[in-house]
Amino acid sequence: MRIGILGTGNVARAVATGLSRAGHDVVLGSRTPDERKDLDHTVVGLAEAASHGDLLVNATPGAGSVPLLHRIGADALAGKVLLDIAIGFREDWTLDHPVASLGELIQEEFPRTHVVKSLCTMDSTAMTAPEALEGASNVFLSGEGPAAKAAVGRLLVDLGWPESSHLDLGGIRTARGQEHYALLFIAIATSTGDFGFNIKVVRPRT
Ligand SMILES: NC(=O)c1ccc[n+]([C@@H]2O[C@H](COP(=O)([O-])OP(=O)(O)OC[C@H]3O[C@@H](n4cnc5c(N)ncnc54)[C@H](OP(=O)(O)O)[C@@H]3O)[C@@H](O)[C@H]2O)c1
Repeated sequence: MRIGILGTGNVARAVATGLSRAGHDVVLGSRTPDERKDLDHTVVGLAEAASHGDLLVNATPGAGSVPLLHRIGADALAGKVLLDIAIGFREDWTLDHPVASLGELIQEEFPRTHVVKSLCTMDSTAMTAPEALEGASNVFLSGEGPAAKAAVGRLLVDLGWPESSHLDLGGIRTARGQEHYALLFIAIATSTGDFGFNIKVVRPRT
């Protein structure tokens, strides 16, 4: 599949490595592609990355994602699935979208794009290496369209997340749960000194 990843940071590069390894045709989209030629991946401009991808990944800072997507343009994003990994999380441990979510905001601003929130509940090191974790854990999905969620689900499998690890939370409104979990994630990481963990939903014994 042709995939355009918006951003060239930790998440973008980790996901690009994982998806390339699985055989996908991946490019990274940068604001300044000429300054990012040192990376192991093909780096192009944002508009070119958007047109390359049948599926797009948002791996940009959450506070700047909506303006950046507007810069690409609603027409260029129309009809595409957008896997949104971004969170508006500030250095002072507060959220940019404390009573909603970036995922919902993107879906509202770009109604012709199919936004699916996933992978944002873990560190970039775990996103593409679930097998390196001690035991099975969960990855969550939030979004409106079953086809879009299925497409993202297939990518998750390609990244090493078996279907049994996927937990579909429902519509894009549930993205706020995934994003707001960042507050607990950072508290656990700071308390344990380890960012590479993930969580598993454990049900009551029957
Ligand atoms: N790091 C993690 O483990 C992790 C985990 C869960 C969720 N997230 C979320 O995933 C997103 C990406 O995280 P990251 O750690 O990869 O961030 P990062 O290393 O800072 O990379 C973000 C990339 O986005 C691009 N960008 C576009 N607009 C930007 C702007 N206004 N300011 C700065 N960079 C901008 C930059 O690429 P160009 O300069 O080439 O344009 C930059 O390399 C964030 O929303 C973060 O909250 C991260």
